[in-house]
Amino acid sequence: MMEGCGKCDSGQIEEKLAEVLGQWEQDRSRLIPILQQTQETFGYLPAEAIGSIASHLGMTDVQVYGVASFYNHFRFIPLGKKPIQMCMGTACHMVGGPLVLEALERALGIKVGGITEDGEFSLDRVACVGCCGLAPVMVISDKIFPRCTSTKVDEILVNLKMEEGADVSAAGQGDSSQDESERSG
Ligand code: FES
Repeated sequence: MMEGCGKCDSGQIEEKLAEVLGQWEQDRSRLIPILQQTQETFGYLPAEAIGSIASHLGMTDVQVYGVASFYNHFRFIPLGKKPIQMCMGTACHMVGGPLVLEALERALGIKVGGITEDGEFSLDRVACVGCCGLAPVMVISDKIFPRCTSTKVDEILVNLKMEEGADVSAAGQGDSSQDESERSG
């Protein structure tokens, strides 16, 4: 379960982290599963978590960070509102996945593991997402985008932004009709 807790304050992080660490013995061999569960809980590895995990396991912060940063899987900044995951499994890699990923980095102005300034999009590379027949595949907010190409990237991002605009506008209309009925009532 990923809660994507990019907006947790440090008190909330501490509380949730205590729940995670409480489930694990203080054994260094448990480091990777603890990091995985921490990332599942927060959507990323908050800086506070590195220190707490280190003291739980009798390690230094640098040791924990060193292990976590070795794996592409772990991220150190929160997810965007619309997390983008580019599949880099073998099938996707073979049919142009890396070119799509480069196009995404260019279009968003961020690198893998980053988040756009407005917090809208984050970008990660992931292993096979299980639909190799549709390669290369990108996943945005749990929705699959099949047979991506670098030229489709801009179109997909623009459509997502337009959808967002439509949602906001629909919500605004809902509010105004409610206001209207309140006024007439
Ligand atoms: S390798 Fe990308 S979906 Fe399997």
